[in-house]
Amino acid sequence: MKNRGTAAVAALVLGVAAGGVLAQAKPEILVKQRQAAMTLQGKYFGPLAAMAQGKAPYNAEVVKRNAGFLDNLSRMPWDGFDPSTKDVKSRAKPELYSNMGEAKQLISRLENETHKLYEVSQSGDEAAVKAQIGAVGKACGACHDKFREKQ
Ligand code: HEC
Repeated sequence: MKNRGTAAVAALVLGVAAGGVLAQAKPEILVKQRQAAMTLQGKYFGPLAAMAQGKAPYNAEVVKRNAGFLDNLSRMPWDGFDPSTKDVKSRAKPELYSNMGEAKQLISRLENETHKLYEVSQSGDEAAVKAQIGAVGKACGACHDKFREKQ
């Protein structure tokens, strides 16, 4: 009995895993998901940018928490920019799909900067944290300038 139960759970887990890897999500869903990840990056980066610019009081605990979220969120949107999505209405410029090499560099840049932010946020050195928040903001902006429609 016990074994059969384990086998059933294993089959279920494998089924879910295979579905996640193999099933091709619909382009509309991929766009929604990447926009959701971007929206959350905006949510958790916004307060940090305000602190770095002196528009909000510095709060080391919020910085640590949001930096941890961003370290993960900054790795999420990218598989949503699949070539199958290029005809779905969105703010991604068509050049993004024909310039994947350059997009990938901008993606790595963001991932490196958010990871660095997470690391410096643990040290509590306010000046270093603020400088690194600026570096993350520039990494967001560099890609938006290049690959995102103005609106
Ligand atoms: C490698 C390119 C790239 C980087 C880096 C990047 N973005 Fe974006 N972002 C885009 C593109 C392209 C869109 C438009 C996506 C769409 O409409 O499907 C977008 C859209 C957004 C949106 C609007 C979401 C919506 O629902 O329309 C927000 C908010 C956003 N980004 C925030 C951020 C923040 C904050 C960062 C940095 C922490 C960041 N982005 C980094 C390319 C990037």
